[in-house]
Amino acid sequence: MCGIIGVTGEPDALPVILGALHQLEYRGYDSAGVALVVDGSLWRARAADGTHSVADLATLTAEAPSGHSAAIGHTRWATHGHPTPENAHPHTDCTGRLAIIHNGILENHAALRSELLSQGHIMTSATDTEVMAHLIESHLSQGRDLTEATRETLRAVRGAFSIAVIHADEPDTIVAARRSTPLVLGLEGNVAFLASDVPALLGHTRQLFALADDELAVLTPGAIAVTTLAGEPVTPDQLSITWDLEAAQKDGYEDFMSKEMHEQPQAVANTLLDRRGPSGELVLDEMRLGPKDLAHIDKVFIVACGSSYHSALVAKYAIEQWVKLPTEVDIASEFRYRDPVLTERTLCVGVSQSGETLDTSEAMREASRLGAKVLVVSNVVDSSMARAADGVLYTRAGPEVGVASTKCHLAQIVALEILGLTLAQIHGTLSPSEIAEVLNGMDELPSLITTALSRAADVDDVASKLTDARDFFFLGRHVGFPMALEGALKLKELAYLRAEGYPAGELKHGPIALIEPGTVVVGIATRNKLSEKLLSNIAEVHSRGATVVLVADDGDEEVAAVADHVLWVPKTNPLLSPVVGVIPLQQLAYRLATLHGHDVDRPRNLAKTVTVE
Ligand code: G6P
Repeated sequence: MCGIIGVTGEPDALPVILGALHQLEYRGYDSAGVALVVDGSLWRARAADGTHSVADLATLTAEAPSGHSAAIGHTRWATHGHPTPENAHPHTDCTGRLAIIHNGILENHAALRSELLSQGHIMTSATDTEVMAHLIESHLSQGRDLTEATRETLRAVRGAFSIAVIHADEPDTIVAARRSTPLVLGLEGNVAFLASDVPALLGHTRQLFALADDELAVLTPGAIAVTTLAGEPVTPDQLSITWDLEAAQKDGYEDFMSKEMHEQPQAVANTLLDRRGPSGELVLDEMRLGPKDLAHIDKVFIVACGSSYHSALVAKYAIEQWVKLPTEVDIASEFRYRDPVLTERTLCVGVSQSGETLDTSEAMREASRLGAKVLVVSNVVDSSMARAADGVLYTRAGPEVGVASTKCHLAQIVALEILGLTLAQIHGTLSPSEIAEVLNGMDELPSLITTALSRAADVDDVASKLTDARDFFFLGRHVGFPMALEGALKLKELAYLRAEGYPAGELKHGPIALIEPGTVVVGIATRNKLSEKLLSNIAEVHSRGATVVLVADDGDEEVAAVADHVLWVPKTNPLLSPVVGVIPLQQLAYRLATLHGHDVDRPRNLAKTVTVE
């Protein structure tokens, strides 16, 4: 996730750009940059400090020339290429007269890059974005104007993008376009704007327009012309803005948690993008560990804390089923102090949204010391764990502000399952068509998550009937077990209610003694190979007076018959089902927390990144 801003018709554009970049920092802050057209030349500055990039950019631009024509700015959350000044946007072409900023991920950048290199273009970054600068350059050299050259370029790229392009030869013009990532346009008198979101522009104009997927906008002083990528003219929808700035930072949602829950389809889609090579095989570019390193692996350890630990538990089922490798999952704070048996044939995977959690990073250090190959799954590019590991696989959920993890948890499950499929490909335990079938199922996940999210009102209805309950059990079997753990953790973290997650088969060995009228049992009854057994366990608690809430696949009437309340979710492959089935559990915890009057973004006693023991 990155933030982009553009302005034309404002001779003093820098304060506008820097102010907007501050607003957009929540979308990423590992580097920042600006490009301005001044007196028919392009002027550019970039900073990559990691946390204060926008502030550093303000210092770097203090000496910038005045009298600006078009101007663009970017704040980056790295995906392709490390967060360095060379990889910071804007990127330029070989002439240094064109500049482009981009939010999104291009899927076919590697093929385009080789083609451009063979034509003699010089690339100076490791980003996917830079290929677009050079593609536009080559179309310009064939006599097209900036708009047509950009249009042609976008026909050649696959993936997600919001872009803005400027050129010293067309000093007042900004060409912008989008597919699958956000972009809004604004107009105020002679000044035209574009940005990733509304808050970045609220201080300047309330006359805002939405750019839809596959549309292209040409901004000139006082004017915005929109067409489809095919060239058909379009009248953009005007946005009616009633938010104040704080509400707008939350995109109109009441809190960051709601906003981030609604970003889950995009987080999962981004994590899936760009993982397949030309013949459909999995190629994990950033992973640094390839078939050579992984073919001889005979055991997998996955180590994590909190919600990341639950993502790891889901992956255990997938890796054991797909790769037939023994897979052990451990809590980082335990792993590092026991005597785990690791060899150079062990793959040790650390899962951490932040990449900074002390227990997990120390566990990875221990695994390395014991000779294992260490791979880190992190949401933060170049986090300390990512740097120290032999390999890294990034989730691409964008920054997560809410303390209780939502979108990162889903993205982690997807990333770990992609890792599982890659191991299956390397070890030959699944055929290419079996792998393709799972990947096709994964491609459906964003739309299934969207459907699950749209049913929040049904969850609210159930939550409103449970406001007096104080004791909750979450029960599941197979992948339903880690889902149960995650549902219970969310309820503890957010609603401060006693909630235990349990493997349902273990109930009879103790916890069933606690079941009495008034206890709420949330059962994860989405279908997997142990569903029948789970339903027997549910019958046992029902007959002892518990109120039963079941998460169930759409239309599964057999399940509905044994529940007091059902939370329906769209059906998917059992190993992928946690990515969809966890949604109503997040919503239930969210709603019970708000009904009890708690702050969901900053739950008491908790911290987002725990760097102490
Ligand atoms: C904290 C957060 C949890 C998170 C856990 C692990 O406890 O409150 O939401 O799951 O840390 O964090 P990590 O950054 O390592 O994934």
